[in-house]
Amino acid sequence: MKIVSVIGARPNFVKIIPIINESRKRGHEHILVHTGQHYDFRMSQIFFQELKLPKPDYNLNIKANHKHGEQTAEILKKTENVLEKEKPDVVIVVGDTNSSLGGALAAKKLNIKVVHVEAGLRAYDLSIPEEVNRILIDVCSDFLFCPTDTAVKNLKNSKDITGKFWNVGNISIDTLIQNKNLIPEWPEKGYCIFTTHRPVNVDRPKRLELLIEIINSVSEMIKIIFPIHPRTKKMMQKYKLISKIKKNVKVIEPLGYLDFHSLLNNSSIVITDSGGIIAEACYRGIPCLIMPQSLKKTNYNLTEWTETLGRNSIFIGLDQKIAVENVKNFLRQTNNGERKLKNPYPGWNGNSSKKIFDILEGEL
Ligand code: UD1
Repeated sequence: MKIVSVIGARPNFVKIIPIINESRKRGHEHILVHTGQHYDFRMSQIFFQELKLPKPDYNLNIKANHKHGEQTAEILKKTENVLEKEKPDVVIVVGDTNSSLGGALAAKKLNIKVVHVEAGLRAYDLSIPEEVNRILIDVCSDFLFCPTDTAVKNLKNSKDITGKFWNVGNISIDTLIQNKNLIPEWPEKGYCIFTTHRPVNVDRPKRLELLIEIINSVSEMIKIIFPIHPRTKKMMQKYKLISKIKKNVKVIEPLGYLDFHSLLNNSSIVITDSGGIIAEACYRGIPCLIMPQSLKKTNYNLTEWTETLGRNSIFIGLDQKIAVENVKNFLRQTNNGERKLKNPYPGWNGNSSKKIFDILEGEL
């Protein structure tokens, strides 16, 4: 098979590596296209170094742009040129970023088969940019690989899906398992990780201020480590909010893959609006407080990782009191030894990439 993979943003780098490894092992030709959506060393190259991702065959140098339409259009246009030249049998996209959407659309318009890894996830709110991307990618896809049973159900219930779909487990867990021996020991234990990058949370000064108030009050109970996304940093600087962060909240630069997982391993609790981190924290049995991805208050309690709810994750909306209560509860349970750390998903076992290629080789 001749495969082109289109990646561009941090979560894409993490999810593509097991796919590249498996395709190479089986002797398929794999061409890697990096759109350039993420370009800072800490958002891009560090993942290539640590995860030993091959140098991209094409770098489209898009650079992140605040306008989603313009960014996606550039990715679509430049990927189309690559696909016309390379004429692959299939295009693989992973996750739900603008780079994934641009790659899927470019392939579909050229009648090239599209493979979507991490298909079927839905939060059922179209104000979330990733939700728009997920739906459009799934509609364009011929082969859809889902991470959960709920994702399979979502596709079954969707009238516009014409491709075939399977539950193969979570590809991010393949990456975690393949790299677990390289993860260093974080020098301390028992802190809370906080991350936020969703435009809906960080592009609005009032909301960003509310988030800071929430973590400030949580920081009275537990130290917080806050690896700051470039978008969040820019907004905090723009709205002069950095000085409002209290002393027990340690703001650090974005971490590479290995350091982030080292940090996660020794954490007691996570507060985040990142889908990927919700799933990884759940896999590790670390309690996770989920912040809204939506603008609408009625949709604060939504996530595309519904199966993590009731296990290790819980919604906190934008409510300081609820956040503090839940942190207290989780810490009490952890200190009393009531929490058992175990993998709640039997299907998340590091075999997703193998299953994907077994299926693709049979289908093609
Ligand atoms: C993107 C993905 C999101 C993913 C996230 C992980 C989409 C729609 N969003 O969001 O699904 O969870 O990546 O990080 O694809 N920036 C830098 N340096 C960089 C990258 C970005 O400074 O290396 C700045 C950009 O200039 C821009 C902002 O961050 O102002 C947003 O970048 P963008 O790629 O548009 O979206 P993310 O918020 O990173």
